[in-house]
Amino acid sequence: MRVLGIETSCDETGIAIYCTEQGLLGQALHSQVAMHEQYGGVVPELASRDHIQRITPLVRETLKQSGLAIQEIDGIAWTEGPGLAGALLVGAGTGAALAWALGKPGIGVHHLEGHLLSPLLAPERPPMPFVALLVSGGHTQLLEVESIGHYRLLGETLDDAAGEAFDKSAKLLGLGYPGGPALSRLAAQGRPGKFRLPRPMLNDPGLTFSFSGLKTAVRSRVMAGIPDEATRADLALEIESAITEVLAVKAARAVAQTGLRRLVVAGGVSANRQLRERLAEASRKQGFECWFPPPALCTDNGAMIAFAGALRL
Ligand code: KG4
Ligand code: ZN
Repeated sequence: MRVLGIETSCDETGIAIYCTEQGLLGQALHSQVAMHEQYGGVVPELASRDHIQRITPLVRETLKQSGLAIQEIDGIAWTEGPGLAGALLVGAGTGAALAWALGKPGIGVHHLEGHLLSPLLAPERPPMPFVALLVSGGHTQLLEVESIGHYRLLGETLDDAAGEAFDKSAKLLGLGYPGGPALSRLAAQGRPGKFRLPRPMLNDPGLTFSFSGLKTAVRSRVMAGIPDEATRADLALEIESAITEVLAVKAARAVAQTGLRRLVVAGGVSANRQLRERLAEASRKQGFECWFPPPALCTDNGAMIAFAGALRL
């Protein structure tokens, strides 16, 4: 079965074709980062309008890459939510129209299920069951993944998501959008131990996260004054350390509590280098496997939607 996947939940138009026999046949992505950059964040109306302009050419490009005619597609999947309403409507409208016109099945896919299953698109697939750490711009969740469609929520954030904590802190530091990668680049030049920020809920025995207090602490630090670029890098490193330490400790705790021996990390923040290092170390110490999707699959893309859609269809 060949499924065309459409992802338009935020600021990326992602299209892909996944075949249940041959794997990924083609994919195309347009990022709106350059367009939103000047506003310091995503402008929803601009996002929707750009998706409208990009989506059809990207579908054509993906078909061309795959060497397929549109009639050879067996089903259409689109991101149903969560995301920006107007942006989602473009993908859902296009997907539903294509499915109707072709007389093929169409299905809306949960964006987080797309992220959750994206590691299974890698050449080496993690076997189930596993614990998943899902860390994106909008969500921070720990889940027990028993099989496709069978997920149990172990813990999530009470307020800001990990990616949001990166983005908001980056904005306070005067860094561009998206903030996570920019903050991480600056942090690479930071000196450890120059600042000490709180690790929210680290010592709480549960699997719940909270990142809004961290953002407030960063704001107070920034308002107290940052004399030079080196100090800014020091603070960036401490922010990255605070977020990734909490994520790594709680993820390792979830593995221990479930008795499972495998952790899979997904979502945009899983591209973070320090998080990867911390989790790799925890997995060595605690004796579990740690799987990361290839970086291109970490952030939003059409492949994860085509894949999740194909499995559901
Ligand atoms: O999964 P994603 O592309 O979109 C959502 O579904 O939200 O995740 C985007 C988030 C943003 O908050 C971005 O700053 C963060 O992932 N991110 C990173 C890195 N790359 C992306 N955060 C920290 N370090 C990175 N290298
Ligand atoms: Zn996402």
